[in-house]
Amino acid sequence: MALMTLNQLLAMDYAGAICGFNFVNLETAKAIISGAEELGAPVILMVTEGGVKYAGLDYIAAIGKVAAANGKIPVALHLDHCTNFELLVQAIKAGFTSVMIDGSHLPFAENLRLTKEVVRVAHAAGVSVEAELGRIGGKEDNVQVKTAEGFMTDPDEAMEFVAATNVDCLAVAIGTSHGIYKGEPNLNLALLEKLKSILDIPLVLHGGSGLPDVMVKKAVEIGIRKFNVWTELAFAHTNKIRRVLKEQPELYDPRSLFKPAIEAMKEVVKSKILLTQAG
Ligand code: 13P
Repeated sequence: MALMTLNQLLAMDYAGAICGFNFVNLETAKAIISGAEELGAPVILMVTEGGVKYAGLDYIAAIGKVAAANGKIPVALHLDHCTNFELLVQAIKAGFTSVMIDGSHLPFAENLRLTKEVVRVAHAAGVSVEAELGRIGGKEDNVQVKTAEGFMTDPDEAMEFVAATNVDCLAVAIGTSHGIYKGEPNLNLALLEKLKSILDIPLVLHGGSGLPDVMVKKAVEIGIRKFNVWTELAFAHTNKIRRVLKEQPELYDPRSLFKPAIEAMKEVVKSKILLTQAG
């Protein structure tokens, strides 16, 4: 199928949240696409700035585009947590159908101004834009926010921000964080309910790894429409490689390592898709 924009994907007739999974290479893209395909679910292939640095923009865009073209499910190709305006423009030129501008480290007025500019450029190219308001804690590649520096999305600011920027969807900070949780995550679901009641654009939950299933289900029930996961996928992939090498230390063909690692990651992809489907 041809790539869709994030807007088109999120507007689809699909009950629950659509998962956004990060990929960094051919193997991780394959795990995501084949998992989504087995369930017939739409999916968002996401690349961080760190992923671009690792693979190269052209390589990673090509992998995403071919994965979507060969797949039988709707796919959007999304640049995740971009803080660099130039890179964002290059990604649009390279064929990404969605970009996230992460100005959450900036003062409110600057985040608003930057997001507005990104929306102007991206929309002119028919590309969707996600932004972030509040600060999601934890570490996501090159974006690190100490827990104490994280703060939740303010409803009044969110209303003003969405109206002024015309952004397509908003990542909200309600207590999730990227990476491994230290202790039990504590989500402010009352705040999510409030944000859902006053904003009429899709809401995004970052830091999907390690959240208890009941919390995820509740967040989706309240109205989260895009659900981001990476760390659990990375663990499944790498742990499988570790195990295979331990069991068969004589292996030398990378395919013997990556095939089972793709399968292991695919299972986590499927479990997150099933978890976030409504009903
Ligand atoms: P995790 O790595 O915590 O799953 O978060 C992923 C994410 O939010 C990507 O933007």
